[in-house]
Amino acid sequence: MSAWLTLLALIPLTLAINPGVKVKLTEKGLEYGREIGMASLQKKLKTIKVPDLSGSAKVAPIGKVTYSLTGMQIVNLGLPKSVLGLVPGTGVNLSIGNAFLNLHGNWRVRYLKFIKDSGSFDLGIKGLTITTSIAIKSDETGRPSVSSINCVTSLGSATIKFHGGASWLYNLFSSYIDKALRNSLQKKICPLVADAVTDMNPHLKTLNVLAKVDKYAEIEYSMVESPAISKSCIDLGLKGEFYNVGAHQEPPFSATPFSLPPQISNMLYIGISSFTTNSAGFVYNKAGALSLYVTDGMIPPSSPIRLNTRTFGAFIPQIAKRFPGLMMKLLVKTVQEPIITFEPNNVTLQATGTVTAYAIQPNTTLSPLFVLNMEASVSARVYVTGVKLAGAMTLNKIQMTLGKSYVGDFQVKSLDNIFLMVLKVAVIPKVNARLEKGYPLPSLGKMNLVNTQLQVLKGYILIGTDVLFTG
Ligand SMILES: *[C@@H]1O[C@H](CO)[C@@H](O)[C@H](O)[C@H]1NC(C)=O
Ligand SMILES: *[C@@H]1O[C@H](CO)[C@@H](O)[C@H](O)[C@H]1NC(C)=O
Ligand SMILES: *[C@@H]1O[C@H](CO)[C@@H](O)[C@H](O)[C@H]1NC(C)=O
Repeated sequence: MSAWLTLLALIPLTLAINPGVKVKLTEKGLEYGREIGMASLQKKLKTIKVPDLSGSAKVAPIGKVTYSLTGMQIVNLGLPKSVLGLVPGTGVNLSIGNAFLNLHGNWRVRYLKFIKDSGSFDLGIKGLTITTSIAIKSDETGRPSVSSINCVTSLGSATIKFHGGASWLYNLFSSYIDKALRNSLQKKICPLVADAVTDMNPHLKTLNVLAKVDKYAEIEYSMVESPAISKSCIDLGLKGEFYNVGAHQEPPFSATPFSLPPQISNMLYIGISSFTTNSAGFVYNKAGALSLYVTDGMIPPSSPIRLNTRTFGAFIPQIAKRFPGLMMKLLVKTVQEPIITFEPNNVTLQATGTVTAYAIQPNTTLSPLFVLNMEASVSARVYVTGVKLAGAMTLNKIQMTLGKSYVGDFQVKSLDNIFLMVLKVAVIPKVNARLEKGYPLPSLGKMNLVNTQLQVLKGYILIGTDVLFTG
């Protein structure tokens, strides 16, 4: 019954959103998580506070003995062996074996009404085992959260060494002490294990579910479905969608299902679908960020082609005639979102835009000369830098048609080389300067990526990486 309720709670409110980004945590990644987790569990268990104990026992031949144990402290605790395994459908289970602890405390006894005795003792426990399952869910903010369930501990053999007092007493009541302490310790361990597990949640809460990109955009990385746990990995589906800062508007396209290949040699795999990159195009185009004024100052001085009415007048005599001796300016902008396509080892971008040419009058007024419609095909290289995805573009080809002319008819084709040059030297470098800064990947806290590889596959980019947490 409660399992069903848990399952129901895991179903996100908005059904059937395909993730734009997928994250796979492999056994290698879990192993790294185990190392970090065990260090913190060990610290936690060293804080076990054993409350003072007292009791009485009938001990032949002296009759009733009352005893009390006080000031008990863990002096040593080791968790030399632990295994973290995946439990398909649920989460992971943690088995700790061969653990040991040593505890020091004081004892005091009273018997035959008035006889008192006291001293100290050392208790050693060996062969301590702890097993617990860790459930992995999605919290209300779309971040993963973990909790410990079904924790069981068993304490192996114990040895007690007494110091001080009358030694003949030791044998008489050591078995009582052994039992009382075992009971007490047994009750303490699982709650601390549960604490150590929930202590991971603040860390998981650092997942950048809304990653700030720049003044135009942010990326949503919240989970859109519950974690899927199989025999070999944990799969997370993240929204992976760019939005305008503040005003979230859905693009006219949606994510299509994709699945990551069965690679497991890295700790973590991140698949970024073309939906994610195309949602970026949608946002930047809508924000008017994909537009640029090109002036003559942006053309290298060595170029014989200048942005002036003399250069353009050579191809369109009307311009030379009506606007002699003026500098020009071009407005290059997209008119719809660029379409990015991922094919194996090949990233291409198709941009549809316009180029508007102006003559700059001596009083700085811009006189429009013509508007061209342009289709540009661009190749891109993508790479990971820090915890960001970056890129660089090269222009493949452009196709232009006349949109509107203020200077009569002319052969658009004759301007191909000029515009190819302008895009290559003035526009692409600006775009690349932005792409070089990168876009945040999903990340937790102070996460660094090492041994990172990137592959372009059909419909998505696959990043395989190991992670290293620093602090
Ligand atoms: C996980 O739990 C299952 C069932 O409780 C058990 O059979 C399995 O051995 C456990 N795996 C690990 C690694 O502890
Ligand atoms: C890359 O893909 C584009 C469009 O799908 C195609 O035109 C181009 O030839 C491809 N390039 C390579 C090197 O495969
Ligand atoms: C600027 O100069 C142009 C051409 O001489 C003229 O048509 C236009 O009215 C002038 N604009 C202003 C604001 O003076």
